[in-house]
Amino acid sequence: TRPLKVALLGCGVVGSEVARIMTTHADDLTARIGAPVELAGVAVRRPSKVREGIDPALVTTDATALVKRGDIDVVVEVIGGIEPARTLITTAFEHGASVVSANKALIAQDGAALHAAAEQHGRDLYYEAAVAGAIPLIRPLRESLAGDKVNRVLGIVNGTTNFILDKMDSTGAGYQEALDEATALGYAEADPTADVEGFDAAAKAAILAGIAFHTRVRLDDVYREGMTEVTGADFASAKRMGCTIKLLAICERAADGGSVTARVHPAMIPLSHPLASVREAYNAVFVEAEAAGQLMFYGPGAGGAPTASAVLGDLVAVCRNKLGEATGPGDSAYTQLPVSPMGEV
Ligand code: NDP
Ligand code: HSE
Repeated sequence: TRPLKVALLGCGVVGSEVARIMTTHADDLTARIGAPVELAGVAVRRPSKVREGIDPALVTTDATALVKRGDIDVVVEVIGGIEPARTLITTAFEHGASVVSANKALIAQDGAALHAAAEQHGRDLYYEAAVAGAIPLIRPLRESLAGDKVNRVLGIVNGTTNFILDKMDSTGAGYQEALDEATALGYAEADPTADVEGFDAAAKAAILAGIAFHTRVRLDDVYREGMTEVTGADFASAKRMGCTIKLLAICERAADGGSVTARVHPAMIPLSHPLASVREAYNAVFVEAEAAGQLMFYGPGAGGAPTASAVLGDLVAVCRNKLGEATGPGDSAYTQLPVSPMGEV
């Protein structure tokens, strides 16, 4: 069988781990897919940067030419941001490639249009890594729970802010010191404002609510409050009440089923609640479904290797679809429910 060609767009915290795992797990990936996967090109911004394990001959600054080559089977987009990522993804579909992305900002803003473009060209768009790092959440919501009715999705979906709040609470660290540490560990976004002001969590809430409730929810539909104003004094008050403070994303279907709400804000959590013991950059999400009851998903929510794990899982799925001449589940069965930012607390 001919090798499936992969173009990697971005080789930073996540992309470098994707490339590393593609090399170190090459035999396993071949066995799981049924064909070898070959790294056919790596697009970056700074070509002269030394990148361990990457053949310099594969490195290019011309991502557009790479996705237009015509022989690429799968484009892995781990650049981030809206442009040029959006144009590169649509160009990839037009030139016959399926796409795996970790880009929550883009999916929350333009997921519907990108799904439509994928469907138009008979290609796949997968983005498990966009929400909660290594934790399988998109596929369980989209596939495993497809026969159930999800009423609520609630939890910690941003590793950077959980890391900062945890350090402030457990070690008394200052906000800036903890943010610097989270950035050095590769958890924060290129602009960490997206993390600390709640935009990243709101994008993830929009994606989760859309998939869980089979409707379209965009970033602008989500009520958002960041955690920059949480102080050491707030933690002291919380502690006196037997609580801690976490940044939560809460997505709910209204009791009558006719609308949905999504919001992100800091919240006091009783120390006895499982969310209170989510430490460092871990994430935890509760999903409440009519038949299944309450499910909890927990694990590393940020960082290069955990996120690459989710990207590689999508890569395997997309490659299998490609070999089977099939596409995975899209979102064409969505209906539009009214969305409001705040439901009942
Ligand atoms: P980084 O900033 O570490 O890496 C971005 C990469 O994209 C770099 O290699 C950069 O090149 C390259 N790049 C930037 N602009 C361009 C361009 N115009 N053309 C070609 N290449 C470009 O980001 P991360 O790896 O942390 O994040 C990537 C994506 O993954 C984002 O969407 C992020 O939200 C998402 N994500 C990140 C997680 C994490 O824990 N870090 C977790 C889950 C999702 P160069 O190396 O030359 O600078
Ligand atoms: N900056 C994000 C976070 C990366 O801290 O959760 C994972 O999506």
